[in-house]
Amino acid sequence: MQWKNQLTGMKPYQPGRSIDEVKKMFGLDEIVKLASNENPFGCSPKVREFMENLSINHAIYPDGYASALRLALANVVGVEEDQLLFGNGSDEIIMMISRALLQPGVNTVMATPTFPQYRHNSIIEGAEVREVQLIKGAHDLQEMALQIDESTAVVWLCSPNNPTGMLIEQHELEEFIKKVPKEVLIVLDEAYFEYITDSTYKNSIELIKDHENVIILRTFSKAYGLAGFRVGYAVAQKELIAKLDPVREPFNNAAISQGVALVALQDSSFIESCRIQNESGIKQFEKFAKEHQLHIYPTQGNFVLLEVKADSDLVFEGLLKKGFIIRSGNAIGTPGYIRVTIGTNDQNKEFLQKLADVLKDAEVLA
Ligand SMILES: Cc1ncc(COP(=O)(O)O)c(C=O)c1O
Repeated sequence: MQWKNQLTGMKPYQPGRSIDEVKKMFGLDEIVKLASNENPFGCSPKVREFMENLSINHAIYPDGYASALRLALANVVGVEEDQLLFGNGSDEIIMMISRALLQPGVNTVMATPTFPQYRHNSIIEGAEVREVQLIKGAHDLQEMALQIDESTAVVWLCSPNNPTGMLIEQHELEEFIKKVPKEVLIVLDEAYFEYITDSTYKNSIELIKDHENVIILRTFSKAYGLAGFRVGYAVAQKELIAKLDPVREPFNNAAISQGVALVALQDSSFIESCRIQNESGIKQFEKFAKEHQLHIYPTQGNFVLLEVKADSDLVFEGLLKKGFIIRSGNAIGTPGYIRVTIGTNDQNKEFLQKLADVLKDAEVLA
């Protein structure tokens, strides 16, 4: 068969171990998964109510335009309805952008380490990937700008960046956008937008008004706690959305997913409460890091990247045996660190106790 050359050696996404798998492996009753930056508080109670009284006809295709969700979201975000594009998770929007703009002969610029789907999709489309090392966990926008040439089609920015959690500084972002030629699409992935508490952050939707080449990605998978329903969205000027829309598959958001996202959107107090609890969870991790002199990146997401001064895989295995699934830094380009989703305060407390035990076994802590 005539497979694309670039598929040679490519591996599918490696999901972390599932809760059931880990339970069986180690004979544990309770597992806490802090590996995929999901919401430990679940989703709005209004979504549960909605699920109990469902009246959707699943025999018919969903609304391919997601009209009700679109109208509500346009109001919340403060844009016109035709400035939105929905995806089966923002993962699908990353795929649509890559499919629409990337091909052999063009290049694409991104940070490293960052969210791996930018690279993955770019490679599938045969584009040259230009990766720019983070500086102290933050995007090196100067170097990223230097990497852009007449063959650059897409630049990917992730803010807060997964896995470091660091926000791109507002002024730097604005300067960067001014420097990038209009012919280059700038993707600003804000999957963790709802968790941002930094007072210098200005809602990036404002950037869209003046910049025809900026697209912002957000999702219902993180703070909204709906990862299982797969709803992500993009916001940009309407001409840009209109160019991308033909790439979208016609019925890419299930009717039930559109329904729950619409309900979740109406409960802003749930999001507010998650943001506050997340902030307090981050403090638990920061206190631990300070006490034990471990480096921690200043995060604006619902996860932290924490130094362990040991082989990350060993720490990962040690925590797995104690009932916590996290991400080893070895798997995400940050050896010597672990990435941990902020849990509930109780989960964090227990996790940090277990982590201290594992680090004692590894002779990192006395
Ligand atoms: C930075 C970033 N972008 C996008 C995604 C994909 O989110 P989803 O496809 O669930 O909307 C994730 C998920 O972890 C992420 O961390």
